Amino acid sequence: MYLILKGALFCTFILTLSYLWKRRKFYCLSWNMKGPIAFPFVGNAWMFFNSSKETINIISMLGNKYGSLSRFWLGTKFLVYINSPEHMEILLNSDTQDKGNVYDNISDLLGGHGLLSLNGNAWKTHRKLLNHTVQHYSILNSYTAIFDEKVKTLIDILKERDGQTFNIYSYVEAAAAEMVCNTTFGVNMKLQHNENKKFLDAVNNATFVVGLKTLKPWFQNKLIMRLSKYHKMYCKSTTIIKDFVTKIYQQKLLEFDNKYSNSGLSIRSDEFGIKESRNFVDECIRLSVTQKGFNNEDCIIESITMLLAGFETTAGTVSNAILLLAMHPEYQEKVYDEIKNCLPTNENTVTADLINQLNYTDRLIKETLRLFPIIPLITRIATTDVKIGEYKIPTGTEFILSIFDLHRKKSIWGPNANQFDPNHFLIENVTERHSHSFIPFAYGARNCVGLRYANIVVRLIVASLVRNFIFTTEEKFDELRLKWAITLKLDNGHIVKLSKRN
Ligand code: HEM
Repeated sequence: MYLILKGALFCTFILTLSYLWKRRKFYCLSWNMKGPIAFPFVGNAWMFFNSSKETINIISMLGNKYGSLSRFWLGTKFLVYINSPEHMEILLNSDTQDKGNVYDNISDLLGGHGLLSLNGNAWKTHRKLLNHTVQHYSILNSYTAIFDEKVKTLIDILKERDGQTFNIYSYVEAAAAEMVCNTTFGVNMKLQHNENKKFLDAVNNATFVVGLKTLKPWFQNKLIMRLSKYHKMYCKSTTIIKDFVTKIYQQKLLEFDNKYSNSGLSIRSDEFGIKESRNFVDECIRLSVTQKGFNNEDCIIESITMLLAGFETTAGTVSNAILLLAMHPEYQEKVYDEIKNCLPTNENTVTADLINQLNYTDRLIKETLRLFPIIPLITRIATTDVKIGEYKIPTGTEFILSIFDLHRKKSIWGPNANQFDPNHFLIENVTERHSHSFIPFAYGARNCVGLRYANIVVRLIVASLVRNFIFTTEEKFDELRLKWAITLKLDNGHIVKLSKRN
């Protein structure tokens, strides 16, 4: 018995030594880098669980205290924190990085990996194929009528609330979700008229649980999740989403077959110069037929990915911009003057075609995304050793890149870095700054594939709202409470008073 115990202890000792030896590079680097004192097994995890402060604030606090290139431990996971443009540039432009596992909780919802969480060759294939589908100007132009129609509906609905004070987010969310559903699935969900509410609720509930699993990692444990009050809601929501998307997909597949197989038309013949609106699912079906490495399941997963990545980000950014304008009437009037000057007649409809002329509005939205980048933290894993600053960072290290802290650095944005001021984006100020000082859509090969789409939608909705309404608010900029759960949210909501313009 004694011998067995001695043997077991010896084996444990050898295994521990071998584990520590394999990870020696992390320990050496950790020793040399600045960062908070870390305890065995828990590392610095206690700072996140034990504090009433939000994760985003704790990470900023660590960055302020220990500098741009510092480290901390989450349990046994070694993390390097970055907030300087120079370091971001090296990392985001290197082709030796994978996504960190922050999006693994989304793949659980999707039932597989989509663009957000794929890595390696599978990601390269999907991204190459989908770049065209999401970013090509002719495809985006074909969406103009959809965008214009949805924004008109939003204005009509909001006119009913003239003189009232309320949270504008749910209205903007329904409009943005309707746009994304229409351009992704080719169906008018009429979410703004409260139809298909079950579907929107399911998407919101499912993404809420994804956020929860990210913030409170113990919910990633299947048993704990199963025993929690969220399990039933999560299962029900994911089933609604998947059933809906699969049904649409099958219907589209049938239409596609009828159009091409039975009519003798060439699948490739009308690829460019698109006149009619072409939704994402149709494009995916075309890819699954014409390209290798993209099958039916990929189509379904990527369609849900577009939906999840597309509407909360745009709705959050629009609502943030409106709240900030309500707090800053002087900027709101400038946006209004610009829009009025650009409209050829006295009409009150801003169209997607017009938004490229809106330079001040563009600065204002950039400033909104600077202070409130909707994805404030991104993660990467080094797939080879990488030299950053004075450190050689070993393969397998996970990086936390704080876009939030980068966008508020006083050394870049000056003493009023924490104030809302669209002049930060005057051309003379932009040219003076490092090219990676402002990266709300990330940068490099893994930047946001929906960047152009988002730029159109956000500008269109903000311009149309300001053209039709005056917004005021009792909320104070300094009292805004931020919450992070993959996306950045305002705990206060977006409470504004709306009055119709003449
Ligand atoms: C204001 C709006 C938006 C912002 C600020 C934004 C920001 C970002 C950021 C920072 C990333 C990188 C995430 C990371 O590396 O972890 C990203 C990735 C992505 N975004 Fe967006 N996004 C927006 C809107 C959209 C829209 C409208 C779509 C789709 C229609 C979209 C689809 C995606 C996808 C699929 C990825 C993953 C790309 C890849 O890894 O290849 N986003 N977005």
